[in-house]
Amino acid sequence: MGNQPVVVYSNVWEDPELNRQSLRVKPGESVLSITSGGCNSLCLLLEDPSRVVSIDHNPAQLAMLEYKRAAIMELDYEDFLESIGTPFYRKPTLRPPDDRVKLYQRIKKHMPVYATDFWDSQTDLIRKGIFMCGNVEHFFALYRKMLGWLYDFSTIEKFFAFPNLIEQQRYYGELNKKRWRFLNSCLLNHTVLSMVKGQHSFAMVQDKDLSKNLSRKIEFGMTHFFNPDNYFMALMLLGGHFSRQAMSPYMLEKNFSTMKRNINRLDIYLGTCGDVLKKYGRASFDKLNLSNIFEWMDHDLFNGVIRDCIELMRPFGRMAWRYTLAKPRLLDEANQRFLISEPELAGRLLQIDRSFIYESFHVFRLAEV
Ligand SMILES: C[S@@+](CC[C@H](N)C(=O)[O-])C[C@H]1O[C@@H](n2cnc3c(N)ncnc32)[C@H](O)[C@@H]1O
Repeated sequence: MGNQPVVVYSNVWEDPELNRQSLRVKPGESVLSITSGGCNSLCLLLEDPSRVVSIDHNPAQLAMLEYKRAAIMELDYEDFLESIGTPFYRKPTLRPPDDRVKLYQRIKKHMPVYATDFWDSQTDLIRKGIFMCGNVEHFFALYRKMLGWLYDFSTIEKFFAFPNLIEQQRYYGELNKKRWRFLNSCLLNHTVLSMVKGQHSFAMVQDKDLSKNLSRKIEFGMTHFFNPDNYFMALMLLGGHFSRQAMSPYMLEKNFSTMKRNINRLDIYLGTCGDVLKKYGRASFDKLNLSNIFEWMDHDLFNGVIRDCIELMRPFGRMAWRYTLAKPRLLDEANQRFLISEPELAGRLLQIDRSFIYESFHVFRLAEV
């Protein structure tokens, strides 16, 4: 590899339950999914599709998914968790960091050369555990550290100490949030977030006050979801899972045998939806998870990609996407003829989105024309 690509997301910060309930993948169906940290492409395998093609235009993201896939293929459950450095709050692994390198040596036979080239040059990351190795995860670590300085970490830990949501809401309501808002204004703004996610991510964002926007969303997360059950909040604020039951579904012990059975149905592919159309051809997918790839696209580019997606879809196809901060792009007239929006379902799902930072969620099905 020439210029070493960088992992931006080692996890997908999108709730897989929204994909499950919006796409409604049926056994035997064919699914296209944006990779990011790979988690949600893996979660879609739990629906028993005939295949999941997971794409990304950043090879480092694909190498991340290759790692997770190889670990699921080769290892038993405990070694799988260990191999990716799964963090648990107040329960650090007792195994030495070199164990992870040994596990990598065992799983790498399942990875293509570009992925082993990538990871061979990153053994320090493997030692530390790749689970929190992306730019976004490093940013959360900084955020967590500063929140701990401003309040004392025990104040933050207490968010996970209540027996129910009502008491958690009361604690949050009573907390003096001046310092938290100050932190948000320092870190959750265009300049800092552009360094983390790339300038392009904000090209279409009109909201000038991102910190206010994200403070509002944090409040929503804190007051709508019981933190011990919400692995997104635990990873962001504690830096680890709160329990073995509150993790992404692909990581749960009860799902591991299904993951192992279906893992061979995952294709990992470098490219965009247009590239997939060239490679796999028309009408080759039933369901499309498009993450928030449209965030930075202008109207014409968005509609061009949607045209590719429509071509890719089979009858009764469904697709979903989201925006973090930008206003939704609108379908042009030609695309409107082929797609039927499901705003009620999308709105309902946004309300149960445990990843809570998203501005909007969109669900469409293919029209019968
Ligand atoms: C859109 S980003 C969003 C990440 C996600 N919201 C999260 O928090 O995990 C997800 C991934 O999409 C990839 N990506 C963005 N636009 C793409 C495109 N047009 N085709 C393929 N991959 C794309 C990025 O490289 C990134 O890894």
